[in-house]
Amino acid sequence: MKKVLITGGCGFVGSNLAVAFSKQGYQVTSLDNFSRKGSEILKTRIQGFGVEVVGGDVRNVADLNDLKGPFDLMIEACAEPSVLAGVQGKDARYVLDVNLLGAINCFEWARERHVPVIFLSSSRVYPYDRLNACHFLEKDTRFVMDQSSLGLSPSGVSIEMPLEGIRSLYGATKLSAEFILKEYAVNYRLPSIVNRCGVIAGPWQLGKVDQGVFTYWLSQHYFNKALSYIGYGGKGKQVRDLLHIDDLTDLILKQAACLMGADSSFRGDIFNVGGSLHSNLSLLETTEICQQLTGNRINVGRILEQRPADLMWYITDNGKTEKVFDWQPKHSAQKILEDTHIWLRENETLFKQVFV
Ligand SMILES: NC(=O)c1ccc[n+]([C@@H]2O[C@H](COP(=O)([O-])OP(=O)(O)OC[C@H]3O[C@@H](n4cnc5c(N)ncnc54)[C@H](O)[C@@H]3O)[C@@H](O)[C@H]2O)c1
Repeated sequence: MKKVLITGGCGFVGSNLAVAFSKQGYQVTSLDNFSRKGSEILKTRIQGFGVEVVGGDVRNVADLNDLKGPFDLMIEACAEPSVLAGVQGKDARYVLDVNLLGAINCFEWARERHVPVIFLSSSRVYPYDRLNACHFLEKDTRFVMDQSSLGLSPSGVSIEMPLEGIRSLYGATKLSAEFILKEYAVNYRLPSIVNRCGVIAGPWQLGKVDQGVFTYWLSQHYFNKALSYIGYGGKGKQVRDLLHIDDLTDLILKQAACLMGADSSFRGDIFNVGGSLHSNLSLLETTEICQQLTGNRINVGRILEQRPADLMWYITDNGKTEKVFDWQPKHSAQKILEDTHIWLRENETLFKQVFV
């Protein structure tokens, strides 16, 4: 039986991957320090699927070295995932330590054992100043990209997008980790894949205002709490694509099979992964769906001041990923919110304390 290590395995992405891999017959170990509020609940869930959970911290090399292997694959899904981290909330040093030093510790661990790596990176590696400077049309419910240039078109941002610019500390730590992994991949022939993910959403996401925005928006409607449109005129016309967690797990299962195959040629190859034109929403449109689903109409305020590192528009161009892995997102934005709503209703008591 192949053995998979998932760092951050009690987070939203990690726990869903742990369950999916376990169901496919892999033996899964999750390493997590339970710093994310609610991760203890996800720990109990994955243990129910036979996943081994080890309490530990990727900043601590000994915690990685103590793991009982051998492993056939590492999925690095552990991070301080807030784009505001270092700007608001937790401090800069903390983001650097977890996202960069922690990632390097993971890659070192993998290099020493020659274990293939799948790294969960982020679309936040693309500079927001470059994206926000584009020309947009303002339509009734959303902004629409009105320009095409290298790596950018109305159908999305591709991996050709130039990287000069400002991207947030979160984005910078992810990009730096990508660079290190590429060196390891080529110099040590370490089979590895980097997924630059856009917004992911769906069941078991403990969404917060600065991370997991679609689930957060839905949960605020569900629990009748306040919300505000922030920046860009306070109209809620900013756009993001969203990818169902099940679409992501389908892709990563395919990638895992490739990486563990005898002749894997992936060496830090980069893929964009997101909802794409198939699944995207403005906040205004999200409010409409949340009202329909929950039956609750809440007052959404307007804040004119823009949030640091915010983006007016981001849609993923998955072109290369679709071609290489014969994969594309199946779930629409409406379906993602419907699935999340059902999950929230079924688990209201369990998660109320996390959301409210
Ligand atoms: N969710 C998204 O929309 C999204 C989008 C793009 C990229 N990503 C990336 O995917 C990965 C998973 O994100 P997520 O949404 O599941 O986040 P999450 O916060 O739900 O999960 C991260 C997990 O890592 C754990 N963790 C944090 N610091 C740790 C440390 N030092 N040692 C061990 N464990 C630690 C947390 O307790 C948590 O369980 C992250 O790398 C994130 O940057 C997520």
